[in-house]
Amino acid sequence: MRRRYGVILGVAAAAVLLICAAGAGIGAWAWNRIQVDTVGEVEFVNRLAIPPLAPSHVDDQGRRVFDLRAQAGRHSFEPGRQASTWGFNGDYLGPTLRAQRGEQVVVNVRNEVTEPTTVHWHGMHLPAAMDGGPHQQIQPGTTWSPTWTIDQPAATLWYHPHLHGSTEQHVYRGLAGMFILDDQSGAGSDLPDEYGVDDLPIIVQDKKFRDDGELDDRPGFGGMGVLGDTVAVNGTIGGYQEVTTQRVRLRLLNGASGRVFNLGFSDDREFALVGTDGGLLPRPYRTDRIQLAPGERAEIVVTFRPGERVVLRAYPPDLGTIFFFADRFTGGDDSFDLLELRAADTLTPSAQVPEKLADVPRMAESSAVRERTFRLSEHEINGQKMEMARIDEVVEKGSTEIWRVRNDDGLPHSFHVHDVQFQVLGGDGPLSGWKDTVYVQPNSSLRLIMRFTDYADRDTPYMYHCHMLFHEDGGMMGQFVVVEPGQSAGRPASQPEHHHHHGD
Ligand code: C2O
Ligand code: CU
Ligand code: CU
Repeated sequence: MRRRYGVILGVAAAAVLLICAAGAGIGAWAWNRIQVDTVGEVEFVNRLAIPPLAPSHVDDQGRRVFDLRAQAGRHSFEPGRQASTWGFNGDYLGPTLRAQRGEQVVVNVRNEVTEPTTVHWHGMHLPAAMDGGPHQQIQPGTTWSPTWTIDQPAATLWYHPHLHGSTEQHVYRGLAGMFILDDQSGAGSDLPDEYGVDDLPIIVQDKKFRDDGELDDRPGFGGMGVLGDTVAVNGTIGGYQEVTTQRVRLRLLNGASGRVFNLGFSDDREFALVGTDGGLLPRPYRTDRIQLAPGERAEIVVTFRPGERVVLRAYPPDLGTIFFFADRFTGGDDSFDLLELRAADTLTPSAQVPEKLADVPRMAESSAVRERTFRLSEHEINGQKMEMARIDEVVEKGSTEIWRVRNDDGLPHSFHVHDVQFQVLGGDGPLSGWKDTVYVQPNSSLRLIMRFTDYADRDTPYMYHCHMLFHEDGGMMGQFVVVEPGQSAGRPASQPEHHHHHGD
């Protein structure tokens, strides 16, 4: 008897050991497999796609009119990789819109895809009804024509869908583009500004592909939505770009779903950061890295020597996660080669980067009339998921407020507010200028100061949310209205009648 037990115990122990070993093996395999590093492995053989400037005309009311058409197509990210995609006026991404401060613009947005969508002007100061958030749906086969007057400093903004619950899908398939604002005030006039030559849009997005070549849009298991194992710039994987001038301005946009990119060059060269989300910095900030969370932009000026080649690279980002394994599963250990810049043998001389760029008056903490707190956690803000029929915050027009944003879970988040450009209290370097999106490290908080001017509409909310699109779609979003002083909130205009009955 005793001996039989011994045998059984021995066999059981061996089985347990075997299972554990297999488990550890699978764990180690998964651990190693999940890290992505394409440094030195990318062949730069494809000319970088540069989104064309959108044509426009001035109508009889003096308004600059653009036409965008959301459509389905097939796009080659690199030779031999064709996938079904969506784009504006093309197969993937959209043209670059460009307008001057003071101009009134109209954008006719036609939806020719099979689902309702919206188009939001990220970073733009404009009336809520023109903002293109989840309430301004465009049904298939219809056209939406928002109009507003550009009244903010020169900046690199962008546009993308914002249909609640589908934003990640729509952006990932390719619906996104840049919106460049110019300002004739003279600030930054010495910076490189010839679009496509020494002023280049750089839209950075990670992608994953299935075996049949189609885009793989399944969320990974790190809680960050789709994290790709390859990175496209303007829809090109393995791209190169000829440089013909001594200095080049790169307008960097993190257009990814959930990946943070820590951008720099293969030789660690220094460059000048000249602008952030909402415009130029007061003065250039010299650095060798600029980290961008989804939704953030940066303008940098890079200097080249004749004949050289340098690679734009994404280094492992500093996510500030507390556990080393959290980094691994949220992209914190990954690195990518993005794009090769090839300088010609003779370069056209460029002006020096001016030491003074733009006036960015600091907003005084004492000018704020109120402070609100936003706790980000578990796909919720302040314990609630986004609800289309619920207005979360009511702000009075003309007021200055401080928004304290706290990341209360272990995941990376990037906080974005519509309509305004804010300043980060105590922010310096890359956080010393105008921002509309900011990375908030796990278990930390930031205080943002902002002023709500010009537009009031008690029935139409603006959004604030995490710009990690998987989090946003999952409910980490809220709604605020800007009202005339003394007014209360109305009810969200796009809601069908039956949403209004309960509760009151
Ligand atoms: Cu870029 Cu609310 O979005
Ligand atoms: Cu936005
Ligand atoms: Cu988030």
